[in-house]
Amino acid sequence: MTENLRQEQDRTLASDRMRAGIPARVLFATMDRLYGREASLPKFRVLEVVARVPYFAWEHVGYVAITHTHQRPRLARDIHDEVKTVRAQQDNEFFHLLILEELLQRRDTPLSGFRDRVLPQVIAAVYYYVSWLLYVVRPRWSHELNAQFEDHAEHEYMRYVADHPELDEEPWVSEFRDDYGHHSTVGDLLRQIALDERHHKDASLARLDTARFGSAGGSAD
Ligand SMILES: [Fe+2]
Ligand SMILES: [Fe+2]
Repeated sequence: MTENLRQEQDRTLASDRMRAGIPARVLFATMDRLYGREASLPKFRVLEVVARVPYFAWEHVGYVAITHTHQRPRLARDIHDEVKTVRAQQDNEFFHLLILEELLQRRDTPLSGFRDRVLPQVIAAVYYYVSWLLYVVRPRWSHELNAQFEDHAEHEYMRYVADHPELDEEPWVSEFRDDYGHHSTVGDLLRQIALDERHHKDASLARLDTARFGSAGGSAD
């Protein structure tokens, strides 16, 4: 497992980063300004607070689209299948967030009430509406933004692990191992999270032209 994950790390670090559009650049610049340019576990935790948001924006749009399209059961069923896929990705991000929070608590990392607790929720709220609006207007735009976000996360995690070899000596102790998967070191855990982000990116890229709801679902009634 370790060897495979190291190969995936090399693959990420050898690949070019995606070109970010304006919304993604604004988000990354905001996070750099608030949490520093250097990658860190507290910064990854903020990333994970924000990462879930597009998935539940899409899920919500999907439920509304089902309300509008239930007279066409086959279409509504297809939309529901897509909602289930999106929900599974949200669940994966949910465990990333819990794992990061747990790591920081085990390390007694001091966090600020405003900067680390309140501001991430503000960023997530803004990002939710941006993702929602883009998705309603044109699903492709929201998937592009998410792919850029996930690509950024994948590269940041893999770069961080490469720059911190001590993480390969640190055992990963967690109450979420049965939920998320068993990884013996924090280094491998973070590589696996990075790989998940790549899969999320690939899922968004695969759906650029095939997302079934958003304006398409909403206009079907
Ligand atoms: Fe994540
Ligand atoms: Fe992700």
